[in-house]
Amino acid sequence: MTLQSLTIRRPDDWHVHLRDGEMLKTVAPYTARQFARAIVMPNLVPPITTVEAASSYRDRIIAATGPDFTPLMTCYLTNDVDPDGLARGFAEGMWAAAKLYPAGATTNSASGVTDIRNIYPALERMQEIGMTFCIHGEVTDPDIDVFDREAVFIDRILSPLVDDFPALKMVLEHITTRQAAQFVADAPANVAATITPQHLHLNRNALFKGGLRPHAYCLPVVKREEHRLAVRQAAVSGSPKFFLGTDTAPHSREAKESACGCAGIFNASYALESYVQVFDDEGALDRFEAFASEHGPRFYGLPLNEGTVTLVRAEHQVPETVEGLVPFHAGEMLRWRFVG
Ligand code: DOR
Ligand code: ZN
Repeated sequence: MTLQSLTIRRPDDWHVHLRDGEMLKTVAPYTARQFARAIVMPNLVPPITTVEAASSYRDRIIAATGPDFTPLMTCYLTNDVDPDGLARGFAEGMWAAAKLYPAGATTNSASGVTDIRNIYPALERMQEIGMTFCIHGEVTDPDIDVFDREAVFIDRILSPLVDDFPALKMVLEHITTRQAAQFVADAPANVAATITPQHLHLNRNALFKGGLRPHAYCLPVVKREEHRLAVRQAAVSGSPKFFLGTDTAPHSREAKESACGCAGIFNASYALESYVQVFDDEGALDRFEAFASEHGPRFYGLPLNEGTVTLVRAEHQVPETVEGLVPFHAGEMLRWRFVG
């Protein structure tokens, strides 16, 4: 019999961009509607590098979402990060994790790390105290083809890191390739990955379907079909190394539909609907709850949420715009609906 309704433990989003100012007020309620907690990316301008900045940002987030939502703050790593300061912020409960942006890799990464060796002392400290290291895994070398930057990062940077830090909890964020799925699956238990809905649904043809499609553009960029299929298999595999992280990354319509359009897909408004359809299509609805609500908190060492959310099988069309932004799946039919 076809399942008509699915009730799961309340999920979390292990990778979001909530922005600031008016955009924060607009988008954060969509994340808070579906998720209890979220790992909040620190790539604001200026980036979130101090406990003070994180504390006031957290207050602004909660003002936008209400108190039922828990933002988990991350520290933007720079070349001159102070390991003691980082450890203090973790001990105080401000930092849930620290994030690596290789300088120049993506939106607001100019203050990022220019050489991984520069943060080795911070990584040593994080390993000691059990603080999670979130990784934007792309090399920035202009000689490397943009579609190969994740796979080359794994060879050049991540693979040596995993050897050098055997106990550091690492999350390879928003994986997009067969190589990433395989590397994480084969790595020790301290290495995990988040998976976005767009990398489960889109291959690189989506960038050019009938014309140039800025709303399918994010970083790491979507890859060939073989990679999408490998990432899908990882997501539905049931392995505790893979968990939900939307990478919802809103930009104004003008910033997306531009001669130099920004990278990022706003998927917060229909995130669970988008993911659950993949698990349904793969015959893996029984594994959705673990991916959405269990693997993430277990990896981070946080309690599972109380309470549940329900999705029902009901076709509906995603609107062309949400709050003036173009959402993921705009104009398409989705087969599940979030009912709260
Ligand atoms: O597509 C993306 N957008 N990828 C990132 O890594 C950053 C994000 C953003 O902040 O816009
Ligand atoms: Zn991101």
